[in-house]
Amino acid sequence: MNYRHAYHAGSFADVLKHMILVEIITNLLQKEKPFFYLDTHAGQGLYDLEAPAAQKTQEANFGIKRLMAQPKIPQGLARYMQVIKSCQQTATQYPGSPLIVRQLMRSDDRMVLTELHEEEFAKLTVLFAKDRQVLVQHQDAYQALKALLPPMPRRGLVLIDPAFEVTDEFTQVIQGIKEALQRWQTGIYMIWYPLKDKMAVANFIRKLTNLGLPLLNVTLQIFPDEAEGLKHTGVAILNPPYQLAETLRKILPELWKTLAPTGEGGYKIKFLNLR
Ligand SMILES: C[S@@+](CC[C@H](N)C(=O)[O-])C[C@H]1O[C@@H](n2cnc3c(N)ncnc32)[C@H](O)[C@@H]1O
Repeated sequence: MNYRHAYHAGSFADVLKHMILVEIITNLLQKEKPFFYLDTHAGQGLYDLEAPAAQKTQEANFGIKRLMAQPKIPQGLARYMQVIKSCQQTATQYPGSPLIVRQLMRSDDRMVLTELHEEEFAKLTVLFAKDRQVLVQHQDAYQALKALLPPMPRRGLVLIDPAFEVTDEFTQVIQGIKEALQRWQTGIYMIWYPLKDKMAVANFIRKLTNLGLPLLNVTLQIFPDEAEGLKHTGVAILNPPYQLAETLRKILPELWKTLAPTGEGGYKIKFLNLR
């Protein structure tokens, strides 16, 4: 396991993923009933954008730092930006998905975080030490989908955010989701993916669609096709909350325009298996 999220924290892919995460949790907060959150690939929870890893790739310059540099935050991104700021103790910190969700939780909501990398797991454990609403486990993501579902309470979200270091990750995600759905059919499942191999992604989305559940697929590209590194990314949401598509249709144009000021790439929002 070589992947370390510290190299990619605050990138445009993180911004897309975390903005959608904030919108889903905001939706779950609309009902009084508590929610459950499972983050199967949790990472270390908090990153320093001035640390050598982040400085080496400079990915945050084209993501969160570009948003921070705006004289006026676009309206649709205000909620996400507010959560990011509320997680920061210093201006150079960037929260991971666990801390973002923790920031929004009420006293009866709860979360389980699983992370396989020893050092990432150790940091995550320290970050949430003594937090009785957060359970941190040194466990494989796909085992967690079998062992931890169905949850109590029965409403909530699973974030599946793999490192895509292994060639069969898409297959593992599909298998994991099938296992999870057998246990918890009504949960919201959010999956992040890189859009590098278009055929592999099309195949993945087709398999997700074939599950027969409502599916929202969102993609964002901010660099030209010929650029180095990750330029195109996506998030698929099974059982998306009511109105999420409509909300994202307002936010995505603003997000793309801000992150790609010279008009490179684009975005797509597709709702499949609409009921
Ligand atoms: C993309 S990062 C997660 C970032 C985090 N979700 C966020 O948004 O802040 C992927 C993480 O998954 C971990 N990981 C890789 N394979 C795993 C597995 N099979 N089970 C659990 N964690 C895994 C990696 O160590 C890495 O920290």
